[in-house]
Amino acid sequence: MNQKPFLAPSVLSADFSNLGADIQMINQSQADWFHVDIMDGVFVPNLSFGFPVMEALKKLAQKPLDVHLMIVEPDRYIDRFAEMGAANISVHAEACTHLHRTLQSIRQKGVKAGVAINPHTSIQTLENVGEELDLVILMSVNPGFGGQKFIENTYRKTEMLSEWRSKNGYDFLIEIDGGVNAGNAKKLVNAGANVLVAGNFVFSSENPSQTISDLKGLF
Ligand code: DX5
Ligand code: ZN
Repeated sequence: MNQKPFLAPSVLSADFSNLGADIQMINQSQADWFHVDIMDGVFVPNLSFGFPVMEALKKLAQKPLDVHLMIVEPDRYIDRFAEMGAANISVHAEACTHLHRTLQSIRQKGVKAGVAINPHTSIQTLENVGEELDLVILMSVNPGFGGQKFIENTYRKTEMLSEWRSKNGYDFLIEIDGGVNAGNAKKLVNAGANVLVAGNFVFSSENPSQTISDLKGLF
């Protein structure tokens, strides 16, 4: 687990009037993954985008698509996201009645299976699915919007999750999503994070590609 952390710019903060250009920017940057936020207006109080944007990503993106489903009944769409080239599919624990089964069905599609948990959700909720996890997304903001303030309790949660992982010999990645910036990235990685999502911090900067290099350069 001592590899350099991955950086996953969030497409949610891209310029949708010129999405192709932002996709190419990420392709050519030092970023590792595309983070793809799917919101249904029910699980979270916002709508983002769906399959047409996934199509564009499938066509143009040259790095793994890290799909984060902020939707109710995610089981209904797993096949479709798998067909559209998702490398990882993460579902919210809070949205899944049969989380174990959902994770198995993601893996059956040859896709890495992830669980995202909201800021109020305890990591104990993962206790009985440790073997099924390729990825855990700790939400460091309440999901629904880019550009929110980082919740400080995430450091403690990251440490606890990382400890639980090593104690049990699990090898899932820990991803932090929301409010990540150059000021908290190092502390998160020191606490055990392996993947950092960054939306607003990258796309609202003057030179997003340089900001990606700067974030990667911290490690
Ligand atoms: C929040 C999304 C995040 C968001 C991160 O609901 O899941 O992925 O795009 O954006 P920033 O980095 O702006 O908080
Ligand atoms: Zn996300």
